Amino acid sequence: MSDSQDSFVKTEPSLNGTDPGDLAPARRYAQIIGWGMYVPERVVTNVDLEQIVETSDEWIRSRTGIGERRIVSSPKETTASLAIRASRAALQVADVPASMLDMVICATSSPEYQFPATACLVQDALGAHRAGAYDLSAACSGFVYGLAMARGMILAGDADYVLVMGSETLSRIVDWTDRSTCILFGDGAGAVLLAASEEPGGVLSCALGSDGSGSDLLILPGGGSAIPTTLETVASRQHFVKMDGKGVFRFATRVMAEATREVAAKAGLSLAEIDVVIPHQANSRIIQSSVMRQLKIPEEKVFMNLERYGNTSTASIPIALCEAIEAGKVTPGQNLVLVGFGAGLTWGATAIKWCAPVTKQPSPWWKAARRRAGYQIASARSVWRRAARRVYAATLGPADAPTLRGRLRASIDAGRAVWEERKPDSLKPSPDDDEG
Ligand code: UT7
Repeated sequence: MSDSQDSFVKTEPSLNGTDPGDLAPARRYAQIIGWGMYVPERVVTNVDLEQIVETSDEWIRSRTGIGERRIVSSPKETTASLAIRASRAALQVADVPASMLDMVICATSSPEYQFPATACLVQDALGAHRAGAYDLSAACSGFVYGLAMARGMILAGDADYVLVMGSETLSRIVDWTDRSTCILFGDGAGAVLLAASEEPGGVLSCALGSDGSGSDLLILPGGGSAIPTTLETVASRQHFVKMDGKGVFRFATRVMAEATREVAAKAGLSLAEIDVVIPHQANSRIIQSSVMRQLKIPEEKVFMNLERYGNTSTASIPIALCEAIEAGKVTPGQNLVLVGFGAGLTWGATAIKWCAPVTKQPSPWWKAARRRAGYQIASARSVWRRAARRVYAATLGPADAPTLRGRLRASIDAGRAVWEERKPDSLKPSPDDDEG
């Protein structure tokens, strides 16, 4: 960890230790100490979309504020691969090795698979061998939900370092023949590293909400338990996103304002004390109507970058946070509110007292080399573990034998039993043998 971030180390005495000692444990805070983003290189403009569906640059810009989006262009680019890049960038900023992570949370609406969790693939690629990992499904509110989960674990003393990411390849689940949805979405990933700290601040409060009665407003109907994949569901395009845009719009403008008010009040902040709002980047009209008009938060305090990325669902807030930091809009001591909404229906907001230094620290060359070596070792370790698992399965008996020796013994015993059963009668002991 860099010198400038020394206060964001594991607090002592640790709350999760067995011996609390005589002193009351220091109060813990969940600070964001690292951040990173990654977007695919391929840019798809509104004019490009005019070639695919009946739309226009003018319509898209005026109704949404979107000018272009990034889209994955190779099968190797997946939700996990984008998340890995964003996560590595976040760990680099924090100067924390992946081996220190206690938990990896991946919020996503376009996971690598139904299961296993995309977070597990990220955990493996990073070499976060001490970390638990899970995916979080709360659609576009997922990243804010993830921050709330991470904060909870840190304040409870169950974790010291939690990596939270939002990652999407929505281009793979969007219907490119449906002009009402395909113009909205983009691909990308953003990640933050939260750490336990004794310095007051960090993630101060969270406000999460849901209303499942609106589950049909934004849905990917096919491929789950309700509508398992069949030839018919594929033919009727049930494996693509369906949306009632107007319904989502009305809901979004209401909850964005309500959630911002609620989370500010929980943190003891007035709306005037909020320095920066980073809203879910879905539609500039939603942001204007909720955060700016209803809450009267001035435009210069509201960060928007959807013109260049479109709606990247769970990734939109962390990508916007990274760009706000890069643009010098976030500085230590400021109060931030991150607020989002999405399918479910869900919504969530979090208030943050920003504490981490945002100026880039010069990093010595050997640190970059050490990081690269760490990821290569993680990759080699993963290959080795896969190979070892295959060899064990093929040669060493039941997987529940507790030790290698136990597995060998179980394997030998099984072989003996088969031999005893099948060996020729001439080799079986006769009753006469006993008499001798
Ligand atoms: O993360 C959450 C994700 N979802 C959202 O944030 C969605 C929230 N909703 C919205 O952003 C807006 O409702 C949309 C941008 C999706 C749609 O804007 P709208 O102002 O609500 O348009 P609309 O659906 O009422 O459609 C107006 C017209 C319709 O034509 P008619 O019936 O008036 O002749 C649509 O068929 O615009 C037409 N239209 C389009 N025209 C050109 C719909 N999509 C397009 C398009 N290009 N891409």
